[in-house]
Amino acid sequence: MNHEFASALNDFVRYLSNAVGAAQLYSVEHPQVGAFIPRAVDALRHFVGGEEEKTLVFLKGVVFYQGKPLERDPHLDRLARICDQIGVGYIRLNARVSAADMRQLVRLLVGVESRESMLASAVNIRIGEVDTPEDGDLDRTTREIAAFEQLSHDELKQLGELYRAVSREEAFNLKDLASVIAGFIAAFRREANPLLALVPLRQMDEYTFTHSVNVGILNITQGISLGIEGQLLHDIGIAGMLHDVGKIYTAAHILKKTDVLTTAEWQAMRQHPSLGAQYLLNQPDIPRVAVIAAFEHHMRHDHHGYPRMPDSWEINLCSEMTMISDTFDALRTRRVYKDAWDFPKAAGYLLSLTGGQLHPDLTMNFLKILAQMGERAGVLSGRGETT
Ligand SMILES: [Fe+2]
Ligand SMILES: [Fe+2]
Repeated sequence: MNHEFASALNDFVRYLSNAVGAAQLYSVEHPQVGAFIPRAVDALRHFVGGEEEKTLVFLKGVVFYQGKPLERDPHLDRLARICDQIGVGYIRLNARVSAADMRQLVRLLVGVESRESMLASAVNIRIGEVDTPEDGDLDRTTREIAAFEQLSHDELKQLGELYRAVSREEAFNLKDLASVIAGFIAAFRREANPLLALVPLRQMDEYTFTHSVNVGILNITQGISLGIEGQLLHDIGIAGMLHDVGKIYTAAHILKKTDVLTTAEWQAMRQHPSLGAQYLLNQPDIPRVAVIAAFEHHMRHDHHGYPRMPDSWEINLCSEMTMISDTFDALRTRRVYKDAWDFPKAAGYLLSLTGGQLHPDLTMNFLKILAQMGERAGVLSGRGETT
């Protein structure tokens, strides 16, 4: 969304929210409300611009526009809260909206008018539940985002408990690691199903494939050191292996480019987390944490990465682990444009990223494992990259 539309949308939300606030305080007929309504209409017309109509989706207190959550602010929060309460999943508006229509919307939001009567009479403002399959793409996107949110919370809790349960003083057992990784790779060969998702990637870009395997192994290394075992450990490994699978949709010349990427190429590259998550959602037998890690692995611990999510978004610990494995493997890799970094240099750099890009406790834990392992384990000398 360009800047002009974004500020028109902001204005519209602010004036509508102010009108609703005034209507709640006094009444819908109060002059205060009347003062905000024409401003909301103007801002809305500006926002809709030359387009037929625009839709805002409300889901669990977050407002989405074109499938992406809008940055939260008190006005947006107020509208989202009300829409959740009265069961409005989306509001679709067109440029012909009049002051009378806007007042009707305010009446709906303050509970003076029912959803049914609004549905029956409003022409330029349409409302609905989010599951109404009127706009397939939009609804699917919002449902998928809701699914990530839900899963992320559950998995986060589970991992968080495991994490707390493990004493960080415990020595890391190298022998266990070797045998678990051997078992992991053997299991991959047997089941092959999640790995099938990687086949198209291997055909496109051998380098990204090797990187994916490395990140899977590093994820398992982290998981073991945190006391995670069994199915969850296996899933965390798969999540590492599949984190970049969305790159099957990225043009090969971009993946292989050794020069600085252009803005358009970066734009294309930045799509791979959401494309990867959507791709994995449609594959059989993919662990849920793998879908989440594909979606979140560039979000950064401080939420300053991509895809951009509200600050309230809880990044799954498996995704945080994947970010660390991903970054480390990239640093340790020799590419045409960059030499492989040695261990102290890579470790020092990881340390400098704690708190901002990377989860501080998980990174410290990772560095501790690496220090214990030294450079002995062959798994740490692979090749790979973080994009
Ligand atoms: Fe990566
Ligand atoms: Fe990536």
